[in-house]
Amino acid sequence: MSHRITLEGGGGFDVSAGEDTLLRGALRAGVGFPYDCSVGGCGSCRFDLVSGEMETLWEEAPGLSERDRRRGKRLACQSRPRSDCTIKVRPGEEYRPPVPPRRMTAVLVARRAVTASMAEFVFRTAEPAHFIAGQYAVFRPPGAQGARAYSMSNLPNAEGEWRFVIRRVPGGRGSNAMFDALAIGDTLDIDGPYGHAHFRADAPRDVVCIAGGSGIGPVVSVAQAVVARAAAETSPGRRLFVFEGARTRGDLCFPALMGAAQEGVTAYTPVLSAEAEGSGWDGVRGFVHEEVERAVGAHADQAEFYFAGPPPMTEALQKLLIVKWTVPIAHIHFDRFF
Ligand SMILES: Cc1cc2nc3c(=O)[nH]c(=O)nc-3n(C[C@H](O)[C@H](O)[C@H](O)COP(=O)(O)OP(=O)(O)OC[C@H]3O[C@@H](n4cnc5c(N)ncnc54)[C@H](O)[C@@H]3O)c2cc1C
Ligand code: FES
Repeated sequence: MSHRITLEGGGGFDVSAGEDTLLRGALRAGVGFPYDCSVGGCGSCRFDLVSGEMETLWEEAPGLSERDRRRGKRLACQSRPRSDCTIKVRPGEEYRPPVPPRRMTAVLVARRAVTASMAEFVFRTAEPAHFIAGQYAVFRPPGAQGARAYSMSNLPNAEGEWRFVIRRVPGGRGSNAMFDALAIGDTLDIDGPYGHAHFRADAPRDVVCIAGGSGIGPVVSVAQAVVARAAAETSPGRRLFVFEGARTRGDLCFPALMGAAQEGVTAYTPVLSAEAEGSGWDGVRGFVHEEVERAVGAHADQAEFYFAGPPPMTEALQKLLIVKWTVPIAHIHFDRFF
């Protein structure tokens, strides 16, 4: 059974009654429904319900402001159709999924600590792991309400291997469940790929990757894709500059996650914001966006930027790149980790 969703401006799509959300139903049907985080944080998937019945999954989702709520706005990633509906939204070609998202059963085959608070999770699916480096998948961690997004930290592959670097957030229900309620051999549904901050293989510019905290996963994936691409090209490849922002030296993990591919990185700059004075650290201190400003400066117009991390970091970088340096929006790709 499915529900027909009619778009007020013309067109429509069917959402199967077993579908998690209106957003995922739309994207699975190949519709370019605007979205960003998939988990209620950003507000990009706002729409108006014109007629029909729609269930709201998370009433307090921060992606809607009080003003949005007063105006009757809804979030497609927190709505589930209960009947045929007519909605108002403007789809965009840029939101159409480049790889069709699927829901798959995955087995947790390994988990290894990469820092005191982060671990790399390795899942296997029967199907190949189809995604573009930099994308994410959506999970329902056991016992937690709602969905959580986690970015792949490896490259797409035929073997069905999906890697994620997950940070245990103090007091966080979903991330703690991933560490404590999931044993090796357990299965979990994963749904993906989603996200727009993926590697643009056809862009010829140098690549600047910036990670804050657990934003390291998609940065490792994009960096590996750049290195793999360079190895396959006969002409000199793009240069690859990586900045990793962390609190202390023990929180850094980019080189360990890259393994042998680290040799293909032109320059790697770790930046520490809370390393103790006198610890022997003679590298860069401060916030990662400050070091990007200092080090990239004059070359910003020759680069493609990829970044992921907490909203304060992504906002600082947006200000720097878009407002101060006027880098074209098409050269900037990022995920905010709500
Ligand atoms: C695109 C994207 C990619 C991400 N990639 C990574 C990654 O690679 N590694 C990583 O460690 N983290 C990543 N995150 C962050 C991750 O999804 C979680 O927000 C983080 O793990 C904290 O979750 P928690 O359950 O521990 O904390 P909590 O505070 O319990 O929950 C945080 C998030 O869960 C959702 N949520 C909470 N309550 C509800 C509810 N009642 N109903 C529905 N949803 C709810 C909301 O999105 C909220 O922001 C990513 C986030 C996004 C948006
Ligand atoms: S995509 Fe729905 S709130 Fe972010």
